[in-house]
Amino acid sequence: VVQKRDFNKEAAVWDEKPLRLKLAADVGLAMRETVELGPGMACLDFGCGTGLVSLQVQPYVGSILAVDSAQAMLDILQAKLDAAGVHNIRPQRIAHDGADMPVGPFDLIFSNMTLHHVPDPASLLAQFVERLAPGGVVCISDLDAEDGSFHDDGAGVFHHGFERERLGELFLEAGLTDLRARDAALVQKPRQGGMRGYPMFLMVGRKA
Ligand SMILES: C[S@@+](CC[C@H](N)C(=O)[O-])C[C@H]1O[C@@H](n2cnc3c(N)ncnc32)[C@H](O)[C@@H]1O
Repeated sequence: VVQKRDFNKEAAVWDEKPLRLKLAADVGLAMRETVELGPGMACLDFGCGTGLVSLQVQPYVGSILAVDSAQAMLDILQAKLDAAGVHNIRPQRIAHDGADMPVGPFDLIFSNMTLHHVPDPASLLAQFVERLAPGGVVCISDLDAEDGSFHDDGAGVFHHGFERERLGELFLEAGLTDLRARDAALVQKPRQGGMRGYPMFLMVGRKA
């Protein structure tokens, strides 16, 4: 049984891990290189946490609705927005089962390191596609398939990363086309007395 992980308990110290900041910067760069961003774009960040990736992307898009099921994460994000005077990101709590997922339509839906916490990625991708404007883009960044050693605590982890080929099939089944996948980051973690790198991908698909 996979226990639910309480991200509210981690929110206050979430940004203190340098690896998370580096990961978000790498993903933000990969997104800018891979997806055509523009000032008219309405975006959704699913599982935004403290908004590390949203803050990387916001200068290049119109607006971002940043959703998460953990209110404490959103509170940290709001404090950061207030401190930085950033006005085009709006944090919003959603239910863990996604029942009240905002309807959009969005030009870009992105999600970083959240898909492996979702039991049924296929139905989440279908929800995303429903909420995309025609021509809109889904952009998922997550771990490549790993052996389960990435998380110190396996609570709430439903997937040990993803095989790019299999996730690509799920993108296609959800109705996305023009698939592109690339390396996005290498997350270094101390493991067994040394450092171990966990590769991450960025996968992009477009709604016809
Ligand atoms: C590993 S964190 C990543 C946070 C952020 N995207 C980042 O890159 O720093 C995963 C986030 O997804 C959120 N989350 C997990 N399952 C969720 C769900 N079903 N609906 C909404 N948010 C969810 C958690 O609360 C947590 O903030």
